Amino acid sequence: MTANEESIQALKDALKVSPDNAPLTIHLADMLLSSARYDEASEHYSRALTLAPGNEAAKLGLAQVCLQQGKYSQALVIVEDLIRQAKPPAKALVLHARLLLNDGQIEKARHEYTRAIDLDFSVQDTSLFERLGLKEKPIERELITTDGRVRSGVRDDDDEDEDDDDNTFIDLERSDISFQDVGGMEEVKEQVRMKIIYPLEHQEMFKQYGKKIGGGILMYGPPGCGKTFLARATAGEIKANFLCVGINDVLSCWMGESETRLHEIFEHARRNTPCVMFFDEVDALAASRSDMKKSGARQAINQFLMEMDGVENSNDGVLILAATNAPWHLDSAFRRPGRFDRILFVPPPDAAARAEIFRLLMKGKPVETIDYDVLAKKTDKFSGADIASVIDHAIEAKLAQAMKDGIPKPLSTKDLENAIKQVKPSTSEWFSAARNYALYSNQGGAYDDIVKYLKL
Ligand SMILES: Nc1ncnc2c1ncn2[C@@H]1O[C@H](COP(=O)(O)OP(=O)(O)OP(=O)(O)O)[C@@H](O)[C@H]1O
Ligand SMILES: [Mg+2]
Repeated sequence: MTANEESIQALKDALKVSPDNAPLTIHLADMLLSSARYDEASEHYSRALTLAPGNEAAKLGLAQVCLQQGKYSQALVIVEDLIRQAKPPAKALVLHARLLLNDGQIEKARHEYTRAIDLDFSVQDTSLFERLGLKEKPIERELITTDGRVRSGVRDDDDEDEDDDDNTFIDLERSDISFQDVGGMEEVKEQVRMKIIYPLEHQEMFKQYGKKIGGGILMYGPPGCGKTFLARATAGEIKANFLCVGINDVLSCWMGESETRLHEIFEHARRNTPCVMFFDEVDALAASRSDMKKSGARQAINQFLMEMDGVENSNDGVLILAATNAPWHLDSAFRRPGRFDRILFVPPPDAAARAEIFRLLMKGKPVETIDYDVLAKKTDKFSGADIASVIDHAIEAKLAQAMKDGIPKPLSTKDLENAIKQVKPSTSEWFSAARNYALYSNQGGAYDDIVKYLKL
């Protein structure tokens, strides 16, 4: 049996036990779809829709199956239903583009595809892109002129009626957490202080020593281990504005607009200093994968690096942090001095940090005296997010009990221990990928930290 078949069998077994579990049913249907077992997939998506009427994922799946089976009009009915919403799922728009293309409506198809990519770059589909005859928009020279001047952020729009400002302006946030809310991560905190906080607070001293201020810190590591959390805490620590830039905020890929947008975002930060800019999932922007290059993201990368270098506009008071789960996809241009010259591995919390994270996350909740060390011991490989999920489970169980007895009781160590059994650590999968990179493409010792951590 292939791994896929095994998973399908396991899911079928699980469904026998809880036949009314809609997420499980959808998951099984997804697996069947990806194994090209369309009839079965169709059956399970339909069943999921009776269990959870209106479920978006099930509808999407069903539409895909219909498309694969050549049932175009059925697929179209489902897709049209999905895209009628104010915020249509990007995947549905891609499906719509396919269906329109099938029907010979190429202009409309292009439009839908563009909308999809604007919403969520990850749904890009190279073969469809080519079939639609889409090309990169010619590079607009005036965007990055030779003297480093940047075109002003004003767009000469021809489709402004449907583009609203939401896309362009990202809200500045005030962070209500600081370093003391972050458990462990001492090394990262220290680096952030040295590289980002002290230079801001003691600008004169740094200048006296001729130490150049600037550049940023890139954090990488398994999911849920506090990268985003720490970035937000950095802003809180120095009472700076926080500007969290997701990749979808900047990438409209080959529309040639992402450069302008990036520039606007940086300007937004420069007008609101001190400001911590945080680029989440920066690998999507900075990918060195050839498909990204082809799709014109190259321009966005250049623009990003230029903004970061502060060629035209000074980045004084703008602090740059970024995070990624996939540092191996990063373009090496990002690692040059003055850019992300500190690249920090954020490992899963060690036992002491886990105890602290438990303590921090339990703050303000009704608890008995809790033995945090015991909990830490039993949560090897757990991420901070996993610990949050443990606490969630424990509280849910406690509430269910309280509903039955009518007596609310405080959480105990035992409750948390029981909850730990229900949560699987989520970091292992990441490490199995990271291991390969650390072993086989550790040029310049880029992944020495992983090597050390995994004791390879
Ligand atoms: N060191 C920590 N201290 C306190 N809470 C933490 C810590 N690490 C993680 N958490 C909790 O886990 C949640 C998820 O963490 P976060 O979103 O920062 O992970 P991440 O590293 O950015 O993950 P991803 O790579 O998936 O983006 C946080 O919102 C927080 O509640
Ligand atoms: Mg994150």
